[in-house]
Amino acid sequence: MKAIYLLFAVIFFSITLVPVVYASGDAEQGKIIFKKCKMCHTLGKGNKYGGGPDLQGVLGRPAGTFEEYDYSNGIKTYGRKGNTWCEGNLDEFLKNPRKKPFKAKMYFRLKKEKDREDVIAYLGENSDNTEACAKKK
Ligand code: HEC
Repeated sequence: MKAIYLLFAVIFFSITLVPVVYASGDAEQGKIIFKKCKMCHTLGKGNKYGGGPDLQGVLGRPAGTFEEYDYSNGIKTYGRKGNTWCEGNLDEFLKNPRKKPFKAKMYFRLKKEKDREDVIAYLGENSDNTEACAKKK
């Protein structure tokens, strides 16, 4: 029985410790995935639908700061604490926005890691702010 627990522990730690490499994200593929996001988000078109904030330049932008959008308190507080969207926290967010890193009012999840990598690569291409993330590292 103990061996099984040990095995689970090993698997658990190897999963959580593997560094996530976003350079592997495919922006072309991400553009296709972004079609799902377009249900609520625009890219460089302002607050056209009002469903979600515009995501042009979101990588490297402090969370919850697109001016024309009425964010939930959770995301605003997260941004006020000095959190900027970069690969790591964006990945965590897209995995389950209702849970981490705060409870957002975004009812959409990207469960596949590859999809998240690709869409983040695409958002990176559509941002002039990524320097803010490079500095963070
Ligand atoms: C069903 C609508 C919906 C879909 C689909 C959706 N989102 Fe969102 N998204 C939202 C809402 C609403 C918010 C604002 C959350 C809040 O205020 O708590 C948000 C917030 C965000 C933010 C934070 C932006 C900021 O300025 O801080 C990012 C990044 C984001 N979404 C990325 C995505 C990506 C990438 C996809 C596609 C994979 C996606 N969203 C799909 C509704 C959606």
